[in-house]
Amino acid sequence: MVSKGMKRYRTRSDAQSQLIGNAQTEETLNLEELFGRAAPTRLEIGFGHGQFLSNLAASHPDENMLGVEAIDIRVTKTAHKSVKNNAANVRLFNDDAHHFLRHRVPAQSLNRTYILFPDPWPKPKQRRRRYVTRSFLLDLAHAMQPGGRFIFASDTHNYSLQVLNNLSTLPGLWRNCYSGSGFEFDIPTRFPTVFEKHKKAEGCTICYLMFERTDTPAGERVPWQAPTPQDSAQ
Ligand SMILES: C[S@@+](CC[C@H](N)C(=O)[O-])C[C@H]1O[C@@H](n2cnc3c(N)ncnc32)[C@H](O)[C@@H]1O
Repeated sequence: MVSKGMKRYRTRSDAQSQLIGNAQTEETLNLEELFGRAAPTRLEIGFGHGQFLSNLAASHPDENMLGVEAIDIRVTKTAHKSVKNNAANVRLFNDDAHHFLRHRVPAQSLNRTYILFPDPWPKPKQRRRRYVTRSFLLDLAHAMQPGGRFIFASDTHNYSLQVLNNLSTLPGLWRNCYSGSGFEFDIPTRFPTVFEKHKKAEGCTICYLMFERTDTPAGERVPWQAPTPQDSAQ
């Protein structure tokens, strides 16, 4: 159900539409054309209400911010925020994260990727719906520049540990920035997301991962299989 406050994002103004890219294609993006300049590019996956992405864009006007989000109305809300902030460095896509990474993001183009509080699918029988799989992380390895960083956060610790485990099955591609256990709890964050604030207010401990892409070429990918509606159902 769409809340009263969100109803106004059912339609888009021209200014909002200009920040939202066409998701009905499998063409690789030309980032220089998309942003009108060559600049370091960051990606946020599942940006929700766009608070983090908007803050990041405002604090790094010299960098390009890409966002991909599955829920259309949240894309419009984030475009609204970006227009309000005069953020010319934001481009948003209403697409499935894995589809976007595989088909749209150019190889070695990203210098940061954030996945902050992905839908947790906490029950054992739901876990197959989690999208940060080994295959997804291999696609991410293709999309990241050497030295680029991948940041992941979740209050569902077994999701963070699953991602940690999946990354360890791609030997040589990623360097863990956290020594010891390989994760950190409750690190201070400059721009907390909506979910991060909720979860902290509930007293949850947040588990963070940070990985750096090495310069080892990423290996061959499995043939693309579109997620079934059941896989992506909320
Ligand atoms: C729990 S919310 C967190 C939103 C935001 N990152 C935050 O921390 O406030 C998860 C977001 O990921 C999006 N999402 C889930 N699966 C996705 C997918 N396969 N592709 C793109 N976005 C997805 C959801 O629509 C939702 O907005």
